[in-house]
Amino acid sequence: MFVSGATTALPNPEERRNRTSGSNFQTARPACQRTAAASVRARPRFRSGAADWRRGEHAVGAANPGRPPPLFSPPPSLRRSEPRRWQLAVSRARREEAEAADAGAQAMASPGLPQPPAEGSPWPLRLLHAPPELLRLDPTGGALLLLSLAALLGWSWLWRHRARGIPPGPTPWPVVGNFGFVLLPPFLRRKSWLHRRARAAGMEPSALGPQLLLADLARVYGNVFSFFIGHYLVVVLSDFHSVREALVQQAEIFSDRPRVPLVSLVTKEKGIVFAHYGPVWRQQRKFSHSTLRHFGLGKLSLEPKIIEEFKYVKEEMQKHGENPFDPFPIVNNAVSNIICSLCFGQRFDYTNSEFKKMLNLMSRALEICLNTQLLLVNICSWLYYLPFGPFKELRQIEKDITTFLKKIIKDHRESLDVENPQDFIDMYLLHVEEERKNNSNSSFNEDYLFYIIGDLFIAGTDTTTNSLLWCLLYMSLNPDIQEKVQEEIERVIGADRVPSLTDKARMPYTEATIMEVQRLTVVVPLAIPHMTSEKTVLQGYTIPKGTVVLPNLWSVHRDPAIWEKPDDFYPNRFLDDQGQLIKKETFIPFGIGKRVCMGEQLAKMELFLMFVSLMQSFTFALPEDSKKPLLTGRYGLTLAPHPFSIIISKR
Ligand code: HEM
Repeated sequence: MFVSGATTALPNPEERRNRTSGSNFQTARPACQRTAAASVRARPRFRSGAADWRRGEHAVGAANPGRPPPLFSPPPSLRRSEPRRWQLAVSRARREEAEAADAGAQAMASPGLPQPPAEGSPWPLRLLHAPPELLRLDPTGGALLLLSLAALLGWSWLWRHRARGIPPGPTPWPVVGNFGFVLLPPFLRRKSWLHRRARAAGMEPSALGPQLLLADLARVYGNVFSFFIGHYLVVVLSDFHSVREALVQQAEIFSDRPRVPLVSLVTKEKGIVFAHYGPVWRQQRKFSHSTLRHFGLGKLSLEPKIIEEFKYVKEEMQKHGENPFDPFPIVNNAVSNIICSLCFGQRFDYTNSEFKKMLNLMSRALEICLNTQLLLVNICSWLYYLPFGPFKELRQIEKDITTFLKKIIKDHRESLDVENPQDFIDMYLLHVEEERKNNSNSSFNEDYLFYIIGDLFIAGTDTTTNSLLWCLLYMSLNPDIQEKVQEEIERVIGADRVPSLTDKARMPYTEATIMEVQRLTVVVPLAIPHMTSEKTVLQGYTIPKGTVVLPNLWSVHRDPAIWEKPDDFYPNRFLDDQGQLIKKETFIPFGIGKRVCMGEQLAKMELFLMFVSLMQSFTFALPEDSKKPLLTGRYGLTLAPHPFSIIISKR
């Protein structure tokens, strides 16, 4: 309505220009510009207002100084023969150009052209009549327009989700969700809630583990709350009831794993830990679990391997005499060797450089995946292939680990004794053969075996190593409790006999101490992220399909409604009045439900036998001049203690 009314009332553009400027510049205008003006004049009357605006801009754009070729250029011969006249001609041409541009601008603003619609008219109409500068998609304007549109869409999407009854949570930013502050310059970032929280605790933001921040947010929004990472909805479960309802009572819906691009690129979504919930995961996990059990997981037959490994630990520790040392490499080597014995049927000497290199590469890969620009691969997958920095480093690490593991698998295939399989790899290779004969669609193959071994290392090394290190640290900080543990060992096992799993039942205080360390430190504090495979309702909230779910095991273990004085180190909370061990269902360091830790029995065996052997042989203390280490831990999928040194005295 507006468009047609405005166009029919249009006076001739020529007239318009003269009327507004009141000058005779039209006569002084060079021929080419006159042509442009003529084209404006010749414009058919039935054109829409927006098209008129564009045409006007196009015609004037030709006279815009600086962009198109100059309207008039004096012949070069003039420059040589009469330099003064040449200069005058040039400056006249420049003046005319400027005037022409001016005239164009005035013509644009002339009252005869279609005017922008009134304030209250609908926005699509106003957009139609917007000045061409706004509509033109030059690189900056276009990008800004697209970005604003994306922001608007993202924001409305997020809010539509909030409105649909999803759990409460902090207000997300458009597009980036709740972690937009990482994109801010440092001086603004300091005002974010994360930095304010870190300042209140007297720490650097990086020192605050995500489990602490999420526990803080649960205090504000409740035990089931949500936030957004980009447009991904993440729901955090912070108390035992919601964790049990999701992972046990609605296990079929809450047992998938999210598709994280970096993880998918590295694991090819194979193996067990990050595999999708479904028949392939079920077959592979069932086979792996029963094979590990066959080789002694949770049984006495594995005991000698763990005890043998402890002999090397003892030797290595004694080498330091009474000097402080970092216990990490010794404990890490020992724990990895137990997995090696199960998977490869062999242990590696602590001085074996290839083995050491592999262990370093595995921790380095985890570290760079969580703390470097590699995280950007989750936004833009192709960055993974960049030929520099952490991108290149990760690909190289992958290549080295692949070569190491594939060689071991190849050696096993060549020396496989069908009648007498020696380890996990042998059993798997036999199963591959069997499946090949009976099931053409089988998921069992050598490629899959490679990823499962990687999983057993990643899931089984850092977790147990860190649990043992935390035990040593808590014993050093609580000498009275260390003494009580040693008294119990003395009473039940004595000084010389090697510990056995059969002693466990008679050592409730020692077991309660290990459990209390696990309760306070929770080495896998946020479990491994889960994902819903369909829409559901949890604790009255709607949880859409594809929601990432983080069970905050750390919060569950510090819940004051369950644990009295939850921040205190108090092993007796796991003992009844007669000093017998109480099993508490709210103690869940290995997670619960279908995705519960596959190595729980192995980890419990290792922890008990290693801890008891260490306490039997040594007393641990921190060096006198050392500062008390922070007990918040360093987060990197697992929660490790900050590096510390220790002194041993032989018992
Ligand atoms: C103290 C030591 C350990 C702790 C605290 C621990 C804890 C956990 C936790 C919390 C999960 C995630 C559960 C979930 O997603 O809800 C997990 C998964 C897993 N753990 Fe452990 N773990 C330990 C040792 C081990 C060991 C020694 C192995 C190897 C044999 C192992 C193998 C696995 C595997 C394969 C999974 C993935 C299970 C799946 O996705 O189906 N863990 N562990």
